[in-house]
Amino acid sequence: MYAKDFYVTESQNFTLLSLISEKELESELSQFSEYNKNLINTQNFTGKLGEIVTLYDDSGQARIIYAGTGSGEQYQALAIASLKLQAGLYKLEQKLNADTLLAWSLAQYTFDVFKNNKNDAKILLVTDEQLQGLLPIAQAIFTTRDLINFPPNICNPEYLSITLKKIAKSYKANFKQWVGKSLLKDNFPAIFAVGNASNIQPRLLSLTWGSKKHPLITLIGKGVCFDSGGLDIKPAEYMRLMKKDMGGAAQVIGLAQLIMSKNLPIRLQVLIPAVENAIGAQAYRPGDIITMRNGKTVEVDNTDAEGRLVLADAIVKACEDKPDLIIDFATLTGAARAAVGTDIAAMFTNNEQLAKDLENAATLVKDPIWRMPLYKDYEKLLESDVADLSNCPKTPYAGAITAALFLQKFVTDVAWVHFDIMAFNVTSTPGKPQGGEAMGLQAVYKYLEMKYCS
Ligand code: BES
Ligand code: ZN
Ligand code: ZN
Repeated sequence: MYAKDFYVTESQNFTLLSLISEKELESELSQFSEYNKNLINTQNFTGKLGEIVTLYDDSGQARIIYAGTGSGEQYQALAIASLKLQAGLYKLEQKLNADTLLAWSLAQYTFDVFKNNKNDAKILLVTDEQLQGLLPIAQAIFTTRDLINFPPNICNPEYLSITLKKIAKSYKANFKQWVGKSLLKDNFPAIFAVGNASNIQPRLLSLTWGSKKHPLITLIGKGVCFDSGGLDIKPAEYMRLMKKDMGGAAQVIGLAQLIMSKNLPIRLQVLIPAVENAIGAQAYRPGDIITMRNGKTVEVDNTDAEGRLVLADAIVKACEDKPDLIIDFATLTGAARAAVGTDIAAMFTNNEQLAKDLENAATLVKDPIWRMPLYKDYEKLLESDVADLSNCPKTPYAGAITAALFLQKFVTDVAWVHFDIMAFNVTSTPGKPQGGEAMGLQAVYKYLEMKYCS
């Protein structure tokens, strides 16, 4: 779905839309015509968030629609109005900033590729400047949502690679991939092991872009296109949503698109281990020991803790180029969801200043993140009897922390931040329809913009 389909910059023929708070309605009520006052009263319009009323101008001809913002929640009001209104073209009476206007398209997003009946768009008239401010962000989020929502029989590791290759081409970036046995040849043993049972070959995808003069930022996304759990198979209810286990990859693809379209003065590297955690004769087993890219040995205690294994290969590779910063996004643990719920991105980092700056950026763009500790004493939970590390502690306690500590074992002398995300809205709220979702994308983009563009 394209975000640009929800906005135009030129048109004569539109319905006026006006946002109004409860207080504003109260104080301005006397200025409305008797006819409109009647409509307001009979339809019980009080300006509460989500309420809508259709009024008429003095000639009684043109409609003007009022949408309640409650105590001034314009973003939510716009999101709700975009869903409640009839298909057509609208123009806001107020001049709102691009951040607020984002709500219009984000709310209307639906994944209707496989629906025979599609909804018509409600289109908003905006200025060129407003559109420039909002469209790259909206489209990054749309791209992320689409990739997560695509079914796993279509969005497999090969599909992710084709997607990244296309994006690389349109921004004149470099695309490279290691597929199947070439992963072993070039020493990505964990990606190969985890993805080896699938009919679709595992791969490591790489995109590089930007001038070598600029600081190198590496984005890594977990691209497990379906997580059955492997031989440690998941029960049906836990497996049901596991098409979203490539949510980290979807998000770094959306973010990369955003960075490149805004031409940020950074050198970008994207690394995506793209695999399916499947079951078959070639499946890796509990008890297997993998010698990782950096020589550390890992005993596979549980094949369902596959994300940390494939990410470890990508992190070691990333560190070899000594970037300024590594950012990874992953739907890594159910434990992170128990800790901070479905809406907040759990953040882990080895850098205090980075934590503060990211928290600040997240607050500014209202994209919630919450820092969790890389508590060193819990490293002992990752011990194995027969290898350097186990991929799964014997206790489920602190599961998000131990997963992050596992990743940290593969980070060498680089500032690193890891986001453990849900990547999915379990219910619909204003601007956040049920289904695939970007989480932490806007926060990280804002951080990069503030750090590198000022
Ligand atoms: N993809 C899952 C994590 C997940 C589950 C994310 C539910 C979001 C919602 C991951 O690969 C996994 O299965 N993790 C296990 C780890 C355990 C075996 C140590 C988990 O969280 O239970
Ligand atoms: Zn798993
Ligand atoms: Zn997984």
